[in-house]
Amino acid sequence: MFLFTPNPEQSLARKIALQARLKLGRLEIRNFSDGEFYLRAKELIRGKKVYLLGDNFSRPTDLLKFLILANALKVNGAKKIIALVPYLAYARQDKIDQPGAPLTAKLIADLIAAVGINELVTINLHSHRDEQFFKIKLKNIDALPLLTSYFKTHFNRPISQLVVVSPDLGGQERARRFARLIHCPNVAILKKFRPKPNAVKILTIDQPQLIKDKSCLIVDDLIDTAGTIIAATKLLKKHQARDLYIAAVHPVLSGPAINRLKTSAIKKIFLTDTLPLTKEKVISKIKIISSASLMARNLS
Ligand code: R5P
Repeated sequence: MFLFTPNPEQSLARKIALQARLKLGRLEIRNFSDGEFYLRAKELIRGKKVYLLGDNFSRPTDLLKFLILANALKVNGAKKIIALVPYLAYARQDKIDQPGAPLTAKLIADLIAAVGINELVTINLHSHRDEQFFKIKLKNIDALPLLTSYFKTHFNRPISQLVVVSPDLGGQERARRFARLIHCPNVAILKKFRPKPNAVKILTIDQPQLIKDKSCLIVDDLIDTAGTIIAATKLLKKHQARDLYIAAVHPVLSGPAINRLKTSAIKKIFLTDTLPLTKEKVISKIKIISSASLMARNLS
């Protein structure tokens, strides 16, 4: 069986293919002078089940190449197309939060179905609301156990000396789950306010008395500009946290993120590879844990 991807140089595709015993499908890719793309599957796919990996839908060209390749597979008779999209971008806009706002989570779900994809396998969708937009079969894999096992081997203080922190109300269920998985009794929830997109102001902490002299582990689904993480670490430091750790699934790491993380007081950051990471993003305090085996195990 074949695994296709519009970015064959992506190492996650190679790792998944190896672990799931799939062959990477060969492609002909052309870029036209007007900016259009052409992707042709150079394999026999008629009547076959095929897998299609899409990586970074935040970049419009990557989303479009993924859709064009799905279309090529469909119109050439693939029997079943299973899409693997470890990080589903645009999922954060999952409700109409003010008059005239878009619902991009639904738009992406509709595009995936419209192009003929039969199933989607993804990792830690931003919210439960996102799930309702999919009319096709959806497998939403939880990567928290992957992060918890690495964190446990790294953290060498008694677990009673740790507080698991959610940087916002929306992430509290995730942080509580992480705490349960590592048997940590202490959880603190912060309240976040965004004055404008990509700007963060953390307002309050529900259990300030827990923080003093404790190690704090902030758990989130993703780090984008790192504004949330940095604002949270500042508040925790103000309450005299001893040291700071981060565990997040998706390394979006856009704009000022790497510089902010590099110059922060954070000791170690645990992330997965649901998005491709360029060399500049792999700084020493970031530990990347591959999601390839998790994806491979969850393919039907
Ligand atoms: C928000 O709901 C998410 O869970 C993340 O906390 C947020 O999107 C991270 O963005 P940034 O790193 O830009 O603050």
